[in-house]
Amino acid sequence: MTAHNLSFALPPMAQIGEQYLVILAAVALLFPCSILSYIVVTPYWRLSRVLTGDWHIDIVKLHEKYGNLVRISPNEVALNTPSAVQTIYGHTGQPWVKGEWYQAWWQPAMNHPFFAETNPAIHRDLRRRVSKAYSMSYILQMEHFIDPLVDDIRSKLTALSGQSVDMSQWTQYFAFDAVGELAFGKAFGFIENQCDFNGLLESVYVYMTSTASFGFMPSKLILENGNLFGGLIPFEKIVREKLTLSGEPDRSDLLRHFQSAKNADGTPMSPQDVFGESMNVVGAGADTTAISVRAILRYVCSNPRVLQKLQAEINNASATGALSDLPNFAEGNALPYFQAVIKEALRVFPAVGYQLPRVVPSGGTEIEGKFLPANATVSVNGWALHRNKSIFGEDADEFRPERWLEGYTKLMESCYASFGFGSRTCIGKNMALMEINKVEPPSLLL
Ligand code: HEM
Repeated sequence: MTAHNLSFALPPMAQIGEQYLVILAAVALLFPCSILSYIVVTPYWRLSRVLTGDWHIDIVKLHEKYGNLVRISPNEVALNTPSAVQTIYGHTGQPWVKGEWYQAWWQPAMNHPFFAETNPAIHRDLRRRVSKAYSMSYILQMEHFIDPLVDDIRSKLTALSGQSVDMSQWTQYFAFDAVGELAFGKAFGFIENQCDFNGLLESVYVYMTSTASFGFMPSKLILENGNLFGGLIPFEKIVREKLTLSGEPDRSDLLRHFQSAKNADGTPMSPQDVFGESMNVVGAGADTTAISVRAILRYVCSNPRVLQKLQAEINNASATGALSDLPNFAEGNALPYFQAVIKEALRVFPAVGYQLPRVVPSGGTEIEGKFLPANATVSVNGWALHRNKSIFGEDADEFRPERWLEGYTKLMESCYASFGFGSRTCIGKNMALMEINKVEPPSLLL
C-alpha cells in the first residue's frame, strides 16, 4: 500500500488545526518545493506539539474531540480503547514491533538499549540477560542501600522547615541518588550537595528531551541520537566515571550483576554493553521515578481529604509497630490505602506522556471497525487511556484512590498503562515501587 492510498485507508487527519492544514495544503500546491509543503506531508505538526512539552494534554483533548481513533501524523493513528490495548500490546502471538521513533535511541558501537530494540528476538535475548537483576527478590536484597538517603533527605528537609522548598528538585535528587546507590554502589551526591553539582541532571534532561522530540524527525539518525545539543556527553562521562570508581567488590548492586551477566550464547557481556545497561538505568530509571514520587506528593498534598486519611493510616501503622521509622518495602506494601494512593497518582499522572508506538504487522489489521494497513504506526497514550470514562468511570479525571479499593475491575487493571504493556512492560517497575514505598511515608509526615 502506498503512502498515497494509506491516507484514504486511515481516518482523516484529526482535523487538527483544520484551517491551518488547509492553508498549508494550498501553499504546498502553489509552491511545491517550499518548506511549508514539506510540513504538510511530514510529522512536523506533532513534533511542534511535543516540543511545547504539552503533548500529554494535547492527546487527551484530541481524543475527547475526535473520538477513540485519531490520526496524529501522516502514518500514525492514536487509539484509546481496551480492545486496541489488547490488539496492539497483548500477550498472544508475536509481539508487535516497536515503531520507528525508538530508533532515535539507538547507539553506535554497541547493542541498542533493549528499550529501543525493535527486533523481538534480539529484544528478548537482551532483556533476558539482565532480567534477574530487576526481579523483586534481587531488588529487595538491595533496598537497605537507600536507607541512608531517605534518612538524609528527611533530616535536610526538616532543617529547611518553615522555608519554601522546591520538591521538584528534591525528588530528582532522591531518585538519581537512589540509582547511584542501587546501580553503582554510591549515590551521585545530589542530596549531600543539595544541587545539580556535576550537571548530570541538566545533561540527562537535555539528552532525553531532545532525543524524544527528534525521534519524530526523518533525519533522526543524522542528529547523533539526540546529541545535537550535547546532552549525552556529560551524561556518558559521569556514568563512565561511576563504572571505574565503583567501590566495594562484594556489593551486590546492579553493576555487579551486569558484569557477570551472560549473552544468549553463554559469552559474558562486553564492557561496552555493561556501559550501555548502566546508561539505561540512569536514563530510564531516575527521571521516571522522580516524576512519580512528585506526582504522589502533589496529588496528596493538594487533596486534604486524602492527606488526612493517608496520614491516619501511616500514623496508625507507626504507632502499632507495623511501619518502621525508615520504612521498608514490605511494610509500605501492606498499607491498603497507601497502595491505592500510589496507584491512583500514577494513573492520573503517568510519568511517560508519549505514545507507545507499534507497527501494524503484514496483512494489516482491523481495530475499532477500521482497517489499518501493514506498516502503519498505531499507538496508545497513558494519559488519554487513563481518562477514558468507559474504563475508569465518570470521575476518571479525578484523583480518587478509593476507586482501586471499592470499584476495582479487571478492565481497569488491563488498561493501566503507567508501566507499559506486554513483553515491553517496564523492567524497572519493582525498583521504582521499592523506592516509592520507602520515601513517601517519611516525606508525608514531615
Ligand atoms: C515510576 C517509575 C517508572 C515508570 C513510570 C516507568 C515507565 C515505563 C513505561 C511506560 C515503559 C514502556 C515503554 C514503551 O513501551 O515504550 C517502560 C519501559 C522500560 N523501563 Fe520503566 N518506568 C519506571 C522506572 C524504571 C526504572 C527504575 C528502570 C530501570 C532501572 C526502568 C527501565 C525501563 C526499561 C529498560 C524499559 C524497556 C523495557 C522493554 O522494552 O523491554 N524503568 N517504563
